[in-house]
Amino acid sequence: KAIHIINGPNLNLLGTREPEIYGSQTLADIETLCRDAAPQANITFKQSNIEGELVDFIQEAGRDADVIIINPAAYTHTSVALYDALKAVGIPAIEIHLSQPAARESFRRRSFVSEAAVGTISGFGAESYLLGLQAALNLAKASG
Ligand code: DQA
Repeated sequence: KAIHIINGPNLNLLGTREPEIYGSQTLADIETLCRDAAPQANITFKQSNIEGELVDFIQEAGRDADVIIINPAAYTHTSVALYDALKAVGIPAIEIHLSQPAARESFRRRSFVSEAAVGTISGFGAESYLLGLQAALNLAKASG
């Protein structure tokens, strides 16, 4: 099963970026965790700081993947383009966050991506990725 894990802006700085909020693991550490947790899955793992590149990643996933896992980072709260891209490709998407946006600043309460996602997992640090991966594998299995 092909699963694309797409990461948005500033997640390349994980490890040093506000570790009290986002933890001390790097994005490469998280990628390794995901690959080790699902050796049977065909995982593509990407990051960009650029909104349009994330749109391109979603479109590529629409051609190649069974399920998208996306941590849209700050674009969660602003991006109609990511919402439209997820709607356009029509494969199931799972939204994940390391932190719990609902418990933070009020501007993080709105998610455009949630409106195009099957479900959201947030607040569990790097484990949010593993929980998202579990959900993605189940969805991929259910869709045959
Ligand atoms: C985040 C939460 C977002 O609000 C924030 O802008 C991020 C990371 C998270 O994983 O907790 O960059 O998506």
